Amino acid sequence: MSVPIRVRLTAWYLLVLTLVLVALGTFVVVRLRESLTAELDRSLNLAATQIASGYRSEGAKDFHDVARTVLPAPGTRGSSTQVLSPGGTVRLSDGDPMARVALVDAVAVRAALRGTSVAQTRAHPAAGSLRLVAVPVTRRGRRGVVVVSASLQTIDQSVHRVLKLLVVGGAGALALVAVGGWWLARKALAPVERITTHAERIDADDLSDRVTVPRARDELGHLARTLNAMLDRVQEGVLARERLVADASHELRAPLAAMRAELDVSLRHDELDDAARRVLESTRDEVVRMSRTVDDLLLLARVDAGRLEVLHEPVDLLAIAHAGARDHAAAAREAGVALVVTGDRAGALGDAARLRQVVGNLVDNAIRYSPPGSAVRVEVWATSAEAGVTVADEGPGVPEDLRERVFERFARAEAARPRQAGAGLGLAICREIAVAHAGRIWIEDRRPHGSALVVALPRVAPPDEWAEERHGRRTLTSSALSRGPRTEPSNTSPIPRT
Ligand SMILES: Nc1ncnc2c1ncn2[C@@H]1O[C@H](COP(=O)(O)OP(=O)(O)OP(=O)(O)O)[C@@H](O)[C@H]1O
Ligand SMILES: [Mg+2]
Repeated sequence: MSVPIRVRLTAWYLLVLTLVLVALGTFVVVRLRESLTAELDRSLNLAATQIASGYRSEGAKDFHDVARTVLPAPGTRGSSTQVLSPGGTVRLSDGDPMARVALVDAVAVRAALRGTSVAQTRAHPAAGSLRLVAVPVTRRGRRGVVVVSASLQTIDQSVHRVLKLLVVGGAGALALVAVGGWWLARKALAPVERITTHAERIDADDLSDRVTVPRARDELGHLARTLNAMLDRVQEGVLARERLVADASHELRAPLAAMRAELDVSLRHDELDDAARRVLESTRDEVVRMSRTVDDLLLLARVDAGRLEVLHEPVDLLAIAHAGARDHAAAAREAGVALVVTGDRAGALGDAARLRQVVGNLVDNAIRYSPPGSAVRVEVWATSAEAGVTVADEGPGVPEDLRERVFERFARAEAARPRQAGAGLGLAICREIAVAHAGRIWIEDRRPHGSALVVALPRVAPPDEWAEERHGRRTLTSSALSRGPRTEPSNTSPIPRT
């Protein structure tokens, strides 16, 4: 799963700040401990020098007297002094009783005797962490070492307190940065989100819209301008393609009509032999198919140019269903498929010719995908809000992978058999016409008993005279249809796909 930039930016802020705080905290703690220890060393050194000088001049008595006055934190654990012989034995001691045993090792004693300043930290089993300073002393020709010790507990406590403050302060700073970083990232990315939302609304049906360019001439302004320039190019390309399709279809229409007329005339000659007749008939079928595709392309070009005009007159969907079915009655007979129209008269506002084309396209598909001996049912229905026509067949149903895009242009099953192969424009046209009527079209899966395509339009109240004519449900079969339905829509005009 992709993590949003906002989250990633905030996480990066946090990571960087955590590293900075840890580095800073470590530096502060180490420096603090160093400087406090140096401070202690100075006072231990001073005390050791004073004790050594007292011991040098007056011996044991002054040793104890001076020790009691100069030892840092006298009477506390770890605060002590001792005089060691060069061999490391304790000659005198004062303060914490632990000083009765030598507090530094032979190496430190030797170093102190050489005059090197000795300051070391040592963990004592009884007194804990100790800081020890040793200085040389000579009394009456006898050399020795004065050792002064103090507990490091106070320093540890101070460092610990600072560490605690750093942790608490650091956590607070991290929380603030998390909130602030999140807010900043949101604020910085909000224009990107606005551009994205706007760009998402621009679809192929209306490419004239452009994203709003932010006022600041920064990266986001650049992004918006680049996006708009790209949309300009896309729109130009789409318009050029639409013009090409419209022009080409227009140019093809007349020659195709002429070819069809000439083929019809040629087919009327009786002296044609069978082979020639078959060739001419198949050529005419191809020409008819091409003319139909060209008409479809022209209609879609009109839709794209916003020039698809539909009438909005009261129409009777039952009459339209009959007319649409009748247009394909011959094809149904040829395919051995029964074509049945059922339902009552239902009123809608629309363009009878266009709606007849919709029903015709649906019936055409249904017949093409129906096995011989099965039935295609055209049912007219009405609810309180809608009136519509359902065309159901007993074929294989629309393949799963096609169902989503079956109303898009040129969408058709890959493995269509020759009898079924079309240009893939029929249902796209049906949708455009339905939409132009403020209606809708959808597909219902009725497998294993085929598919049903439903077109629904806003309903209008039927005229009064219909009620008088109504005499229950009527059912017409393809043979009945070939004679024509009882009622014809008054405004039916010739449609391209006949
Ligand atoms: N009743 C149906 N049963 C099974 N598949 C169908 C049915 N109606 C449509 N289809 C599938 O949907 C595709 C698209 O149908 P559409 O009517 O748009 O195009 P077409 O029939 O292939 O070509 P055209 O209608 O332009 O001659 C068809 O190719 C077919 O695969
Ligand atoms: Mg079709």
